[in-house]
Amino acid sequence: MTKFFKIAAATALLVSSVMAAEYTIKLTHVVSPNTPKGKGADFFAKRVGELTAGKVEVVVFPNSQLYGDGEEMKALKLGNAHIAMPSFSKFTSIVPEMQLFDLPFLFRDDDHLHKVLDGEVGKIIKDKVTAKGFVALDYWDAGFKHMSSNKKAILLPTDAAGQKFRIMSSHVLEAQFKTIGANPQVLPFSEVYSALQQGVVDGAENPLSNFYTKKFNEVQTDLTLSAHGYLGYLVVMSESFWKKFPNDLKPMVLQAMREATEYERKEAALDDADTLAKINEYAKTSGTLKVHTLTPEQKAAWAKAMEAIYPQFYSVVGEDLIKKVQAVK
Ligand code: SIN
Repeated sequence: MTKFFKIAAATALLVSSVMAAEYTIKLTHVVSPNTPKGKGADFFAKRVGELTAGKVEVVVFPNSQLYGDGEEMKALKLGNAHIAMPSFSKFTSIVPEMQLFDLPFLFRDDDHLHKVLDGEVGKIIKDKVTAKGFVALDYWDAGFKHMSSNKKAILLPTDAAGQKFRIMSSHVLEAQFKTIGANPQVLPFSEVYSALQQGVVDGAENPLSNFYTKKFNEVQTDLTLSAHGYLGYLVVMSESFWKKFPNDLKPMVLQAMREATEYERKEAALDDADTLAKINEYAKTSGTLKVHTLTPEQKAAWAKAMEAIYPQFYSVVGEDLIKKVQAVK
């Protein structure tokens, strides 16, 4: 077959497969396809196609291509996008209690985190999101966040004092940086690389997958494996879209989502170790980035400094909800 015929055949196949789909689900997210969230979204799209025998097509728009931070929730409300998986902080203005998950040093480890998300507290939060007119589906993982800077190594809270840090829009994250004398600045995720590059901010906090896939390692000199907070997602669907979606196809979409959640969480767990190895390799070969591990004493100093903000959020988040999380064994 000539190159022309190959292209024509591929185009015909693509067009016929697109034409075969009776329903389209538009899924939007802001990170790289090569992150656990990106891979989970692509897996979901594939499984929906398989389980509905091509009747439903999920079109994934990664990298803020369709909607950026702050626009996703509005797009779902208007039915312009159908599924999104924003990080918890992006729900702040809709469900302020979700800032619970931004509290530093709240989760002891992955096991504690998943017990909380899949248990009573996770359900309470989902119900609040549902009450605001969204379909709350599943919790997905990014990972624990680490601090980075292009000014100096951040080993103790005093090292961060005076530095400007990009944060997501969350009062908890703002307080977390203010309490250590740093200057937090809210910026959309899509602007973080250029803000770091141009010195608009000095540092940021990210899980390793976002740090590496967005190449923040190229514009930061120091990464501290602080694991001081957690970044996760709630997968949400447009209520107006779901109400109109055919009832006979709903179970397949929900089944695909359950499978995607299991897959995404496994990917996130694997990705962390894999990405750290890549970052360490980059640090070794580039000579422009240093990766720091904290001693138990340094980590304790961070926890002490940052946990001091909890009482500020007892009224917004609910002291009972915080205590419920801490009580989960
Ligand atoms: C994301 O992982 O969806 C982006 C998180 C951020 O804004 O830092």
